[in-house]
Amino acid sequence: MTLIIAIDGPAASGKGTLARRIAEHFGIAWLDTGLLYRAVARDVLANGGDLEDVCAGEAAARAVVAQSLTDPALRGPRAGDAASIVAKIPQVRAALLDYQRTFAGQEGGAVLDGRDIGTVVCPSAHVKIFVTASDEARARRRYLEHQARGEGVTYDDLLADIRRRDARDSGRAAAPMLAARDALHLDTTELDPDQAFDAAMQLIETKLGGI
Ligand code: DC
Repeated sequence: MTLIIAIDGPAASGKGTLARRIAEHFGIAWLDTGLLYRAVARDVLANGGDLEDVCAGEAAARAVVAQSLTDPALRGPRAGDAASIVAKIPQVRAALLDYQRTFAGQEGGAVLDGRDIGTVVCPSAHVKIFVTASDEARARRRYLEHQARGEGVTYDDLLADIRRRDARDSGRAAAPMLAARDALHLDTTELDPDQAFDAAMQLIETKLGGI
């Protein structure tokens, strides 16, 4: 069986760490699809373009390649905010679909995390998990990450960034952030990464046991 696992949820919900660990557990590939949108935004800006420009976004999306996704500059909050602006453009989303579906269809299978994996990219994934956590817990996580890297971002700014991004990602018309009807829900507010992984594995094993 080519196992496909879809992990969706808002920024800093813990979905990326979870997806990576689940992929390691099954020995299959992992794609953080947020990196694709982050790379598109980076490339539009690098070409002197506007993040709302449909043609610039579509061209950058068509040109995205795997090697450019390892750029550490893609990880910061500015890149995330810019990514959520290009992610509203339907032509950008369409241009990134093939890349994601080809990745998901690879031999052995894959874990993909994002906002629309269970609803649009892989609607027939074997397991779909929608990961959430309170706004405050997510801002606190981001704050601790930034502190550890010696970056002077305030908790209040991070909380505002998370709320703005949630509103944009769930309010857009094209493939909004949404739990698929058959998604399993996991709230990580009170869980550390190990507990979140254990809880996710229980959900996955129960679901796969019934397939
Ligand atoms: O997961 P992330 O924070 O790296 O994602 C950055 C932005 O990219 C997010 O705010 C919205 C967009 N995104 C999306 O629209 N669809 C996805 N599957 C993944 C990310």
